[in-house]
Amino acid sequence: MEHAETVGAVRSEFFDGYWRRSILCGRVEEVMAGAEVRVNGWVRRRRDLGGIIFIELWDYTGPVQVVFNPSAGAGDVHERAGDLRSEYCIAVRGRVSLRPEGTENPTIATGNVEIAADDFLLLSLSEPLPFEVGDATDRVEENLRLTYRYLDLRRERMQYNLRTRAKLYFFTRSYFANNGFVEIETPMLTKATPEGARDYLVPSRVNPGTFYALPQSPQIFKQILMVSGFDRYFQVAKCFRDEDLRADRQPEFTQVDVEMSYVTEDDVMALTEGYLKGLFREILDAAVPTPFPRMEYWDAIDLYGSDKPDLRVPMKLVDLGPVFAESGFEAFCEILKAGGVVRGLPLPGGALMSRKELLGVEEKAKKLGASGLAVFQVKEGDLKGPLVKFLSEDDQARLRQSAAIGDGDALFVMGDASRLKACTVLGTLRLELARAHGLINEKAWAFLWITRFPLFEWDEEEKRWTSVHHPFTSPVLEQLPLMESDPGRVAARAYDVVLNGSEVGGGSIRIHDPAVQARAFACLGIDPEEAKERFGFFLEALSYGTPPHGGIALGVDRLAMLLCGGQSLRDVMAFPKTQKAQCLLSQAPDAVEESRLAELRIRCLPVENPAARSNSSTPTPDQREGP
Ligand code: AMO
Repeated sequence: MEHAETVGAVRSEFFDGYWRRSILCGRVEEVMAGAEVRVNGWVRRRRDLGGIIFIELWDYTGPVQVVFNPSAGAGDVHERAGDLRSEYCIAVRGRVSLRPEGTENPTIATGNVEIAADDFLLLSLSEPLPFEVGDATDRVEENLRLTYRYLDLRRERMQYNLRTRAKLYFFTRSYFANNGFVEIETPMLTKATPEGARDYLVPSRVNPGTFYALPQSPQIFKQILMVSGFDRYFQVAKCFRDEDLRADRQPEFTQVDVEMSYVTEDDVMALTEGYLKGLFREILDAAVPTPFPRMEYWDAIDLYGSDKPDLRVPMKLVDLGPVFAESGFEAFCEILKAGGVVRGLPLPGGALMSRKELLGVEEKAKKLGASGLAVFQVKEGDLKGPLVKFLSEDDQARLRQSAAIGDGDALFVMGDASRLKACTVLGTLRLELARAHGLINEKAWAFLWITRFPLFEWDEEEKRWTSVHHPFTSPVLEQLPLMESDPGRVAARAYDVVLNGSEVGGGSIRIHDPAVQARAFACLGIDPEEAKERFGFFLEALSYGTPPHGGIALGVDRLAMLLCGGQSLRDVMAFPKTQKAQCLLSQAPDAVEESRLAELRIRCLPVENPAARSNSSTPTPDQREGP
């Protein structure tokens, strides 16, 4: 350490009390002028002005200015202060004074005061920093921030985020405890719980050749707790899913997990609304109206092209089938005749978009799977666009009326054999265009419930039905008979809670009859043998007087991200993973010694491309928004 000799050696007398702080940096106030104080913290910035040394001393409450005057303080204090460097950890003794008029700093809480230092003690030196710690850190490349996460966290924004997250935990525990819920931990080393992702597996040393799965959620255990009579369970639960990561997905994340006996959908929804309303009041002092609006799955798809619609965006999709069915535009007529759809997305103000911009939107639609995208613009009262020539005056009027477009607007139109595809492509464009054109009401908290999801969806690759939620979700009772005859038409008693276009929670009323559960497994192509092997213990538990029950799990990371105004889950996790599921700080995952593998009776196959495994390759944290 080059400065050690001049700045003074790190000394240990801190612990005798003479140097321990009497006040936190950010709490020094004008009324304390004249008082002697001791502050401990990090040197954030140092300025030498005309022989006077100013440092910004920082702790988690914020900065305070410390002044070293050559005429004040004992011995070589001023000289030593000249060698202080960023992020050295020091203790300062001094006297509070008001800043001279004209030198106040209104941007910080302690901007009217400073501490005239008598002396300081060096507690720790710091190596030269990989980046400047402070507001500007946001602009530092994220991989570097993640590698030195401890420095990244040593600044206001990240401190605020993690402290807000801690408030969320505190509120959660009091809310559920006050509502009669029991907090119960379920195991981390367990058997697979199907939630649609791959499991993280943990080899067992004492049972060679066998593996635990880390839980994708506590789903099976929480249902078993209902069989056991706990009636109202909750847990702040860690979940693990080996899946493709995005800005709104981490391999290891946290849920507020809830299960209740003898309830209907309305009970779970009311409890959840009370929780979210209280949480937003507690943390942001925001008034969230309840009950939240409810929308059925297919209505959400038809109107917003998404099962997690962002209601802050005003545009809705429109059905243009009736307009184009009899039109002169053959391609759309054919699609409609064959049972397909033609849907439109109006864009207020879109008539100002240039040809190049419009081509960009079409390109994007094609990337998303559209075979083409037609565009109309209304300019000076006239409908413009390549398809106008195929439309009669009447059709044009009907188009403008159906899409509710007027002068200055644009309309994007897509035809496709699949209703889901046409809607979701336009739904994605809806969000992108709203972002680009400033059409999102950034101040709003738009909550809603999505209900009546399909129970199953067809997996084209695997050629079988899979669960849209998980296999324990109850079908809508009157549709039970369709489970075998027409599985695609069965609706689930499932509900997702959506906030500003993010799915922040999901749950359902469960199957509590083991015979119906067995039928659900059969629909999913899980034969009785396999069902017994994978879920036998659960099916058996259901056969001992199971109460009707249901629940929900809320994504803590997503809620915290939205509450903090973060862009990705990494903004609200202390030590997150990159898109390649790596922890850049600890360099996990890592290779292990042969001897440890041998103990576990594991032999690794050679890795085809070792660079793909190395942490030194440059994994990019995903900047993309959710799907
Ligand atoms: P689900 O799989 O919908 O339901 O998860 C519930 C909520 O957890 C959050 N979430 C995630 N957050 C961050 N990273 C991830 N990879 C991730 N995956 C999910 C989302 C989601 O809404 N057992 C059921 C719940 C139930 O039926 O009660 C379940 O886990 O916010």
